[in-house]
Amino acid sequence: MIEHLQNALKEKRSAFLPKRPTLLLDLLQVGLAEEPYHNPSSDAAGLKALFPLTFDRPLLRAVVNRVPKAAKPLRVGVFFSGGQAAGGHNVIAGLYDALKLLHDKSTLIGFLDGPGGVVAGRSRELNAEELHRYRNQGGFDLIGSGRTKIETEEQLQAAHAHVQKLELDGLVVIGGDDSNTNAAVLAEYFQKVGCKTRVIGVPKTIDGDLKNAMVATSFGFDTACKVYAEIIGNIARDALSAQKYYHFIRLMGRSASHIALECALATQPNYTLIGEEVSQEKRTLKQITDEIADLICHRAELGKNFGVILVPEGLIEFIPEMGVLIGELNQILAAQAGASIETVMAKLTPASLACFKTLPEVIQKQLLLNRDPHGNVQVSLIETEKLLIETVSQELAQRAKSGKYKGKFAAQNHFLGYEGRAAFPSNFDCHYCTTLGFIAALLIHHERSGYMCFVEGLTGAPASWRVGALPLTALMRVEMRKGKEKPVIQKGLVDLKGPAFTHFKKQAQKWMLEDNYCFPGPIQFFGDPDLTERIPLTLLLEQG
Ligand code: FBP
Repeated sequence: MIEHLQNALKEKRSAFLPKRPTLLLDLLQVGLAEEPYHNPSSDAAGLKALFPLTFDRPLLRAVVNRVPKAAKPLRVGVFFSGGQAAGGHNVIAGLYDALKLLHDKSTLIGFLDGPGGVVAGRSRELNAEELHRYRNQGGFDLIGSGRTKIETEEQLQAAHAHVQKLELDGLVVIGGDDSNTNAAVLAEYFQKVGCKTRVIGVPKTIDGDLKNAMVATSFGFDTACKVYAEIIGNIARDALSAQKYYHFIRLMGRSASHIALECALATQPNYTLIGEEVSQEKRTLKQITDEIADLICHRAELGKNFGVILVPEGLIEFIPEMGVLIGELNQILAAQAGASIETVMAKLTPASLACFKTLPEVIQKQLLLNRDPHGNVQVSLIETEKLLIETVSQELAQRAKSGKYKGKFAAQNHFLGYEGRAAFPSNFDCHYCTTLGFIAALLIHHERSGYMCFVEGLTGAPASWRVGALPLTALMRVEMRKGKEKPVIQKGLVDLKGPAFTHFKKQAQKWMLEDNYCFPGPIQFFGDPDLTERIPLTLLLEQG
């Protein structure tokens, strides 16, 4: 009895049937139309030299085929890559369903623990019964994930040997920008060595930064933002009730502030920092501190000694002096991983050393923690919200001494990250991910390689969605990683001229002094479509 109640939502969600575009109902009737598509970056010539076989591929759009392509049993491998994002299991279930619809003798093989599983050859076949338990469930626990960067000749040879042994027609990489860079490298290599395995990327990441002209959003972003927005709304209501704390809430999202923007639109906090804006305006840590202190002083004059402030985790990299410092630290640590604080300080330029010395010791240590396998600083480990609490309280203490501030300042810090990555996927993520799985199968059926799946028209009903695929190499540019120039998929940052940010800026002033908090509550899976089918607000504003 208790067990049944404990698992009630899990079971009900397993039985939920995600929707997919009408176009994909009969996969055998679907073909691919080609359109020219070029890499707009200034690095195009260099990238072409690195990806001679897969560069300059056309964009593909799914269309009804007059002459269907005969289907044969397909053998396809799949793996998750990077951080969890809700809906991943639906990509795999959609892929499985599509492969079986194309040919009932098709096989799906899961590589274990991410890209490392392909290199090490750790895999197992997935079956319908097992997949049923994971449909519409959060997490990546069906086959696990990892962050291995595939780049050395040995890794590529090993991956090739394993896909060849398994006789794979296709390999589906479910990942973010770095993982899809792996997919592009594998696609090029497999083609170079004459391997038949086609490589397809699926846009995953809660960060929402796998965003470009054709990919409107990555999966997992909607669910994560809804989970965070519920918690922020709850905190705001607590702040309003107790009227004694400022809540500094740091939100995951790596460099980009898409999550902070979406959560701000959903909850209307008193203040939200957007990293991209800070960078554009070259605001220093001192200026940011002053802005927050000004807000607190104004509110104190109105008798309000409480509030809610959102801080994107990537903010630290966007503050100009911190960005330069982090760049220098990346170079130093790339050359000497695990270097002591004294060694590092001896190698910093005078300006960065001065900046480093102003930071609390705990933040200094966090800045020196290991980079991830792709060379990124791990911003999720840097407690920027605590740094701001410290600098703001110092500033307020100064102002209090000179009689400019008479309020009371007590702060609470929060970090919302892991709580949102593996939640039960929203209906939107369930539909979207299932559709992405179908597109991946379609591309492999049509023997296409080096592509990322996309869905257009996401603000409409799933039945009306249009689908296609973009060449991965068209999304790349050259960036400094681990002290060297590397080809990577370009991150899509918040567009400061776009409708979502513009809407936010128009409202944000009002939210500072008035308390217009919204309380979105938990994700709804059943009931009124206004609640169950709501898509991200940024997407709604961006796509109209
Ligand atoms: P992906 O880019 O792999 O999707 O990961 C997103 C993310 O959740 C970031 O928001 C966060 O900074 C990072 O992963 C945390 O990484 P880890 O899971 O290794 O702690």
